[in-house]
Amino acid sequence: MNDSTQNTIPVIAIDGPSASGKGSVAQLVADALGFAYLDSGALYRVVAYAAKLANIDWTHAQAVADCAKNLDIQFKHEQVYLNGHDISEAIRTEEMGKGASQVAVHAALRAVLVDVQHRFRQSPGLVADGRDMGTVIFPDAVLKIFLTAKTETRAERRYKQLLGKNQPANYENILQDLQERDARDKGRASAPLVMAQDAFLLETDNLTISAAVNIILQNFKHKIHK
Ligand code: DC
Repeated sequence: MNDSTQNTIPVIAIDGPSASGKGSVAQLVADALGFAYLDSGALYRVVAYAAKLANIDWTHAQAVADCAKNLDIQFKHEQVYLNGHDISEAIRTEEMGKGASQVAVHAALRAVLVDVQHRFRQSPGLVADGRDMGTVIFPDAVLKIFLTAKTETRAERRYKQLLGKNQPANYENILQDLQERDARDKGRASAPLVMAQDAFLLETDNLTISAAVNIILQNFKHKIHK
């Protein structure tokens, strides 16, 4: 498929801060429409994981970018594979979330991942979740959603999620981590977390996941029938 054909494939961009519910909502929207799903945060997590394995410091921009160039990353259903190994659980830790946020500040790494992300745009459509989907990677997305919630709401959700998985959880630490991650994601020079001018703001503090999914589906139908 050439670039101009690919550009006609509809994209729904769902951006927002950590633990806003983006992942679950985006996956359900993709399922409802039969669209492909891109979890761009997972790409940054895989890079953080691979860099750590290779003893590369997360602050070394060029070494991190070079490491990313040689990775064989595969998404199959909800599993993530690195060089044939299932690393789905390993990249979901708080440590890799922090590492992802640190490697993601490097413009050189972000440049390496642009084409990787564009390749997910496949017929009949794509739901892409991240921080810069609507602003940088898919600026022509037919629908852009900025999904967010108060930091305390997000910390509470992450806390319950960890308890549900029988993992150690401390609310105060989680809150502090989220604040640090938000500051880094919003404050970086390259593709910072900002709401696209043409995005629809969806605050999920008082919304269930299925209510958020329905709002997005309605907005999408409205956009394509305009
Ligand atoms: O969505 P997540 O928690 O899996 O993302 C982990 C980190 O990756 C996040 O703190 C910032 C970075 N990220 C990014 O910079 N750009 C994206 N499109 C997605 C994630």
